[in-house]
Amino acid sequence: MATTGHAAVFLGAGQALQVTDIEVGRPAPGEVLIRNHAVALQPLDAKMLIAGYGPATSMQYPAALGTGGAGVVEEVGEGVGGLKVGDRVAFDTKAYVTPEKNRRQGTWQQLVSCDATTVAKIGDVPFEQAVMVDFPLQTAVAALHVFLGMGVPGSGKAEDKVLIWGAGGAVGSYAVQYAKSVGHTVVVTASPRDVERQKRIGASEVVDYKSADVVERLRELGPYKYLFTASGDAASQKALAALLPNGGKFASVLPGAAELPQGVEIVYTAFSQAAQKEEYGDWRDFWYQQYLPEVLAKNLVEPVKFTKVDGGLAALQQANQDVFDGKVRGKLVINPQE
Ligand SMILES: NC(=O)c1ccc[n+]([C@@H]2O[C@H](COP(=O)([O-])OP(=O)(O)OC[C@H]3O[C@@H](n4cnc5c(N)ncnc54)[C@H](OP(=O)(O)O)[C@@H]3O)[C@@H](O)[C@H]2O)c1
Repeated sequence: MATTGHAAVFLGAGQALQVTDIEVGRPAPGEVLIRNHAVALQPLDAKMLIAGYGPATSMQYPAALGTGGAGVVEEVGEGVGGLKVGDRVAFDTKAYVTPEKNRRQGTWQQLVSCDATTVAKIGDVPFEQAVMVDFPLQTAVAALHVFLGMGVPGSGKAEDKVLIWGAGGAVGSYAVQYAKSVGHTVVVTASPRDVERQKRIGASEVVDYKSADVVERLRELGPYKYLFTASGDAASQKALAALLPNGGKFASVLPGAAELPQGVEIVYTAFSQAAQKEEYGDWRDFWYQQYLPEVLAKNLVEPVKFTKVDGGLAALQQANQDVFDGKVRGKLVINPQE
């Protein structure tokens, strides 16, 4: 049964989103159709909308932004097992990695198609909380576990130290909590106003990333087995490289922005999209079938602060502008059904 739903249509960088009714087809084989009740605005989406960043350069327009959401399964496609109509789920789509799926799988719309393999059941966890956790936690765990080789929770040693630079944001906060759950000692950089929360979520030491002697302080607290910059800026990349005098690697949420000494490697990719690629099928299954449902059901992470913005899809334009302008602490959440 074809039906219609509201969608925020993206016409190109710098152009205002157009909220309009679009026809929604049935889910393809292997997909489910989800009535989307929550999206969290990520810096990536805002940078694409306002400045045409990254995946926006290779999209087919008109396009649909957003790759994550939470809602209720409305229809199940052929060949899908383990999901049924009425299931409450969190999900991530191929909207940014498979152009031909973008229009149906972009999540800034009311009805979203999604490959069934990237859908997690969330039980009675609120939709806002599920979207608050999924995307940034997935980014952090993919970076640390899949790309830097950190173990699973409970498998690490306290003698092995982890450095999370820029732990104040969503990705950074979740990286701290994951590294702590693995069993490591976690040193972070964050703002002085955030020290109490950082200690609560697992940091043993908190250093102000704006202090003049930040690298020296971190050197005294090291050495580190795993290093990750969750702010990804050039200053953080330079600092992490300086903490690897004998060479080594660190992961970064943003691509290389600083010249690095010989022997120091930066590990950068779209960590948030790794589960959408078939080569990471084991990671994807671990994430959606095991780890994310367990984290949500047992409240294993402290979610980052969020603000619910009223107005549904029509509120996306201004809300993204605020994210882009750096006016937002924590995350903004919108309900496309409003
Ligand atoms: N590669 C990927 O797969 C991937 C996935 C997700 C996100 N990202 C990127 O990762 C970055 C962070 O995303 P997010 O969702 O965590 O953002 P967020 O939640 O909006 O984090 C912003 C916070 O980070 C801290 N911060 C900002 N600039 C900093 C700097 N130069 N040094 C240290 N800390 C800084 C600030 O906290 P304080 O003021 O409290 O310090 C700020 O409030 C974004 O650029 C995003 O595009 C990449």
